[in-house]
Amino acid sequence: MDLNTIERNETDSASQSAAAASAPAKKVFVKTYGCQMNVYDSQRMTDALAADGYTATDVIADADLVLLNTCHIREKAAEKVYSELGRIRDMKAERAAVGREMLIGVAGCVAQAEGAEIIRRSPAVDLVIGPQTYHRLPDVLARVRGGEKIVETEYAIEDKFEHLPQPKRAEMIKRGVTAFLTVQEGCDKFCTFCVVPYTRGSEVSRPVAQIVAEAERLADAGVREVTLLGQNVNAWHGKGEDGMEWGLGRLLFRLAQIPGLARLRYTTSHPRDMDDELIAAHRDLPALMPYLHLPVQSGSDRILKAMNRRHTAKDYLALLERIRAARGDIALSGDFIVGFPGETDADFEATMGLVRQVNYASAFSFKYSPRPGTPGADMPDHVPEAVKDERLQRLQALLLKQQQDFGLGLVGSTIDTLIEKPGRQAGQKVGRSPWLQPVIVDEKAGKIGDIIRVRITKTGYNSLFAELA
Ligand code: 5AD
Ligand code: SF4
Repeated sequence: MDLNTIERNETDSASQSAAAASAPAKKVFVKTYGCQMNVYDSQRMTDALAADGYTATDVIADADLVLLNTCHIREKAAEKVYSELGRIRDMKAERAAVGREMLIGVAGCVAQAEGAEIIRRSPAVDLVIGPQTYHRLPDVLARVRGGEKIVETEYAIEDKFEHLPQPKRAEMIKRGVTAFLTVQEGCDKFCTFCVVPYTRGSEVSRPVAQIVAEAERLADAGVREVTLLGQNVNAWHGKGEDGMEWGLGRLLFRLAQIPGLARLRYTTSHPRDMDDELIAAHRDLPALMPYLHLPVQSGSDRILKAMNRRHTAKDYLALLERIRAARGDIALSGDFIVGFPGETDADFEATMGLVRQVNYASAFSFKYSPRPGTPGADMPDHVPEAVKDERLQRLQALLLKQQQDFGLGLVGSTIDTLIEKPGRQAGQKVGRSPWLQPVIVDEKAGKIGDIIRVRITKTGYNSLFAELA
């Protein structure tokens, strides 16, 4: 996903305007891989660079700075980055031939995991910056422009979020009526397949006041739907405005009070951190959308144990029962890994059985990919690629069927839709259902930012078609 959003606006500081007058504005091209947190981080880096005089471009050849915000969760992600770097190196050479600079930066989880190795493998790279130090980007760039190559992957002691500039209101408005808001980063769970605890570090929660202030600014800029982000978002905790220790449930109750914010979501959660107050939030808060992404990874207790998930399939199903009792229309989404070391046919069948029992509205499924440095990589009995392929195909067919059935089950019903943007076809607008499906409506059905009642008429591949109810 490319993020190419920032335009200079008149309220930039005088010194930057003066700099802009004497030299053409520098341009940055940002390319984002991986999860929603990277999307959020790319926006914040773009904001930091805007304050440093950079405007965004979506034409890579025009960029004075190319920034790849990378993902390390599975093998192919990092390999894609290296091949992209090969292409960018050629563009850098072409620009150099006409006397123009192109700095290349690698950010994100590959940056954190690989560090200086990136510059060794791709010498055209000028800077490598890990997720904990994005607020230092302008300083790092100043040093890079002075001729240094920089690898900045130490965890900063200062609070990154406090030092990252907020976007201008005009910029926030341009970004639309839905927004991400990172409330928590890192993970202490150490699932044995996962690199996150190593690339994003240990669990850190942002303070309540910072989160509330950011949510209020978003609401003030017309944002109607906020998705709270964290690698392990329901582990979020902090000291509340009442001096008490709050969990994510309590935070959601607080954010639901902000005028204008009509919809709240959070992702990604761990089953172990679904506490009573969070379940109560699902019961009591109409703004909290009835859609929960709650990964289980496997339906086999043996594999769950080897994965260090610290719950059984039965625990997970019992938890879902409590959540469904609190909010009857809640739809479930999940993540699955097939072919974890030691996974037998019987283990895989247990996963298929669990999926049949839960009935997911949507889900993501992956072949296990050994990540260097994680315990899973060193476990015996790795599953052959062909077996992983076959299992993934079967699982995905089942999940796709459930997703389609979920959409079909909505045909004829009346639901709320948040109008998000113009449609791809003339005369249409695209909204979002409570369950995250795109909803195609007539463009006259409402303005962007409106929440309208619609009747679902039919389903598309991944979307719903609807008319005003
Ligand atoms: N191999 C395959 N899938 C993985 N995930 C995380 N690590 C791995 C890995 N090593 C999946 C999990 C997680 C999602 C974000 O990515 O399902 O929930
Ligand atoms: Fe990775 Fe999520 Fe497990 Fe943390 S809880 S180690 S982020 S899979």
